[in-house]
This record gives sequence, C-alpha cells and structure tokens, in this order.
Amino acid sequence: MAAVVREAVFAGARSALDPACGDGRFLRATGLPELTGVDIDPAATPGPGVDFVRGDALTREWGSAQFDVVVGNPPFLNQLSARTTRGGSSRFGGGPYADAAAEFLALAVQLVRPGGRVGLVLPQSLLSTRDGAAIRAAVDEAAALRWMWWSPTHLFDAQVRVWAGVWEVGGAAGAVRRSFGPQFAQLPAMTMPAAWSGLISGGTPIANDGPTLGDIAAFTVDFRDQYYGLVGAVGDDEVGPPLVTSGLIEPGRCLWGERPVRFAKQQFAAPRVALDRLTPALQRWAESRLVPKILIANQTKLIEAVHDPTGEWLPSVPVITCLTEQPERVLAVLASGAANHWVHHHAAGSGLSATSVRLNPRLLASIPLR
Ligand SMILES: C[S@@+](CC[C@H](N)C(=O)[O-])C[C@H]1O[C@@H](n2cnc3c(N)ncnc32)[C@H](O)[C@@H]1O
Repeated sequence: MAAVVREAVFAGARSALDPACGDGRFLRATGLPELTGVDIDPAATPGPGVDFVRGDALTREWGSAQFDVVVGNPPFLNQLSARTTRGGSSRFGGGPYADAAAEFLALAVQLVRPGGRVGLVLPQSLLSTRDGAAIRAAVDEAAALRWMWWSPTHLFDAQVRVWAGVWEVGGAAGAVRRSFGPQFAQLPAMTMPAAWSGLISGGTPIANDGPTLGDIAAFTVDFRDQYYGLVGAVGDDEVGPPLVTSGLIEPGRCLWGERPVRFAKQQFAAPRVALDRLTPALQRWAESRLVPKILIANQTKLIEAVHDPTGEWLPSVPVITCLTEQPERVLAVLASGAANHWVHHHAAGSGLSATSVRLNPRLLASIPLR
C-alpha cells in the first residue's frame, strides 16, 4: 500500500478518492487534505477526515467529479458471480467475465483529471484476460503506466495473485519502472509493451534499445473529457483558436478553413473554440495545448503530421499532440519511410482498413531514431 500511495501522490496534488475505501487506509496514507471515500458496505467506517459516500462506485452518477489522485485496493469479484445482478454487461466495456477490479480501474482513469494519477492494487488476471482487453485498451488510450509492482506469491488474504500499477492520466507513454516481490526489488524499466502481460513476462528492457522518438518528444492524446468538454463551445462564428480534427491533417499541411469538419455530429466550415465557454479545467487544458507543437492524425495510411510553431491550434479528439524542442527533426523522422514501416509493422491491422494504421502515443514514441 505504501509504495502505491507514494508513487501515486505527486507535488501539487490536493484531492484523493478511493472508490472502494473500506476503512480508508489508502486515503489516509496519501496525506492529502481533500479525501473522498466510497464504499458499498454499510459497515465501512473510513474514519475522520474522509468525506464518505455510501454506495456502489460502479453504478454511481459521478457527474463532472474529478480528483488529483485515485488510489485503492478494489474488490476482486469475478463477474461470473456478480453477473446476475449486472445483467452480464459492463458499463466500462469489459466482457461479461471481466473482474470487477478492471471496472474500478476504468472508472478511476475517468475520474482523474489530466495530469493526475491512478494507483490501484489489481488481480494479475487483469494483465491478460480476454474480457479485460477492452478496458486495457481504453486505459492505454487515456493514461500512461509509470510504475508497476507484482509478486509471484499471494499477498494479503487474497486468493489471487496481485499486482499494482500507477498511471498518469493523459500522460505520454514512456518508461515503466518496475519492482518485484515482497521486498520491492527494482527491475529494469521497460517501454510499455503492447500486451500488458509483457510487463511480467519480460520484453526488451529500455537499456538494450536504441534511442527512440520518445527520447526527444512527448506524445499525448486527449479523450472523452476533452471531447465532451468542447461540445457547445465550438462553432463557425466563435472567436477563439481553430479546432483541428484528424481529417484536416495532411503531411506537412493543415486544411483548416479549406475542408469542412465534422465534430460532435455537426458539420463546420472553419470551427473555432470559444475559450470563455469552457470549464476552468478545460481552459487549463486548452492553455496547455496552445503551445508550439506538432499535431498528428490518429488514423492514417502514411503518418500525417503538421507543425503548429506558434501554438495557435486546439487539437480535437483523438488528434495526437507532440511536444518537442526539436520539431524539425521529429517531423523528418515521422515523414521517413522507416517510421512508416515501423508503425505498420507494429500496429498492423489496428486501423479501420487493412492498409491504415491507428496511431497512439506509445507507438509513436517507440519509433527508432536513426
Ligand atoms: C478489498 S476491500 C479494500 C478496502 C480498503 N482499501 C482496505 O484496504 O481496507 C474492498 C472494498 O470494496 C468495497 N466494495 C465492493 N464493491 C463495491 C462497489 N461496487 N462500490 C464501492 N465499494 C465496493 C467493499 O465493501 C470493501 O470495503
């Protein structure tokens, strides 16, 4: 618990949530001033200092609640036993046999603000079960695993082997620090493998790899919070930064104003974002995006990247944002045949058609620098 909390709490964090808080020990261990605990058990007593909500965290209406940190040790109920009460469906995209812990992970990632952290103790089955695949993919899209720990032995009183992960929500994929066993022995960090099970089964440690784009650039993608946050603030008559969608990005060129745009089921000619109609959190997000950057279309045959040297454009979801101090070099790498070959080789079949490829921050960061 201490290690998870230590990795999840960061400078500047104020609020923490444990959606299955029990006696509130994870929350208290954070030492943060604003603590919220949820538990379904009427007997749960998280103690003083915790704003306690009794109820089912997975079915609760969370509205726009956002926390700096979500931590905890959620229940490992298999849906097989809980299925009848859930009708076999998973609100967060897991299959009917997905572990409830997977659902807590999906929920946690949604409830943490961009830049915040999620630290959870989870069953090792979540690393590989088929029913967890959709949730793993959603978490990979929304957050970057920074640290993980696992143990080959059964810890706590759990009948299952556990692991723990700490994710940075909205973070650029990068190295995952790893530790192992009851003594928390440090293992070599590794780049996030395509299959989560690779975190345990090995994979290529970073030290053996050559330099990659991730060494000189940070890639991030925005997700549903940004998407829904922009709905209602976008229009052809608004005053504000242009909204750039994937469809507008061509290699070296942005077609904003030249080609119509579809956003939130509407067509626009030259959509702009009215910043003053965004929530404060979304305004902070917009500020962080209105900087010099490279924008990359997420779904392409060839990698399509365009430079925004003056930081004028706001990326729509799921355009990938690249921040770098070496834009010319990054653009040259992204335009190279070798980089295109790399992404096709490593993500073949992930796109909508056989020849297109769905890019993500991790894949882009893994492109070798030659
Ligand atoms: C493994 S315990 C962890 C509690 C606490 N972190 C600890 O270490 O003492 C899991 C907790 O989740 C609660 N729980 C189970 N299903 C829940 C749900 N759907 N919503 C909220 N809490 C739930 C249980 O009542 C239990 O207190």
